[in-house]
Amino acid sequence: MEEKRNLILCGFMGCGKSTVGPLLARMSSRRFVDMDSYIESQAGKSVSAIFAEEGETHFRALEKEACEALSHEQGLVIASGGGTLIQKGNDEILRRTGVIVLLDVPFDTLLERLKEDTSRPLLQKPERGAVIQSLLAERLPIYRAVSDYAIPAQESPEAVARRILAVLGEAPRTC
Ligand code: S3P
Repeated sequence: MEEKRNLILCGFMGCGKSTVGPLLARMSSRRFVDMDSYIESQAGKSVSAIFAEEGETHFRALEKEACEALSHEQGLVIASGGGTLIQKGNDEILRRTGVIVLLDVPFDTLLERLKEDTSRPLLQKPERGAVIQSLLAERLPIYRAVSDYAIPAQESPEAVARRILAVLGEAPRTC
């Protein structure tokens, strides 16, 4: 059987990559991989611990290694991290075997979803709203430039997954 191309979900923290991803995988008969979890299992520690003990630069290097490794597989739905596709070259690596889909969610919704977050190192700062706003302004043009499709992603995870399959011209598997 022909291997399916990977589907890479991209977008800001809180856009729904890790909730839409498993559904999309089930609906498209692919295997779900969360890139942060993949890095954590390779490193044997959490993303927060990697940031705290080795710093963001080291985390970005692990992220690039993860992109390389996962690009050698096929038939995956990959939830990238919010910074993965911001790093130069990762889009090219992932696109070798996959298509990149941006989950587009407006600032107000992201803020609402992220306001209680305690797990993301980049957000553990005062003035969280201002941090999200400036990071989003910086990143959104890059997300748009590196992705093959942009999907409005405020609806339910299932509706978003269906939208993605529709733009890709794939029929959802009935489960
Ligand atoms: C990051 C997003 C996180 C995680 C790390 C850095 C970022 O992933 O990779 O905390 O730079 O935006 P999620 O987008 O899954 O939260």
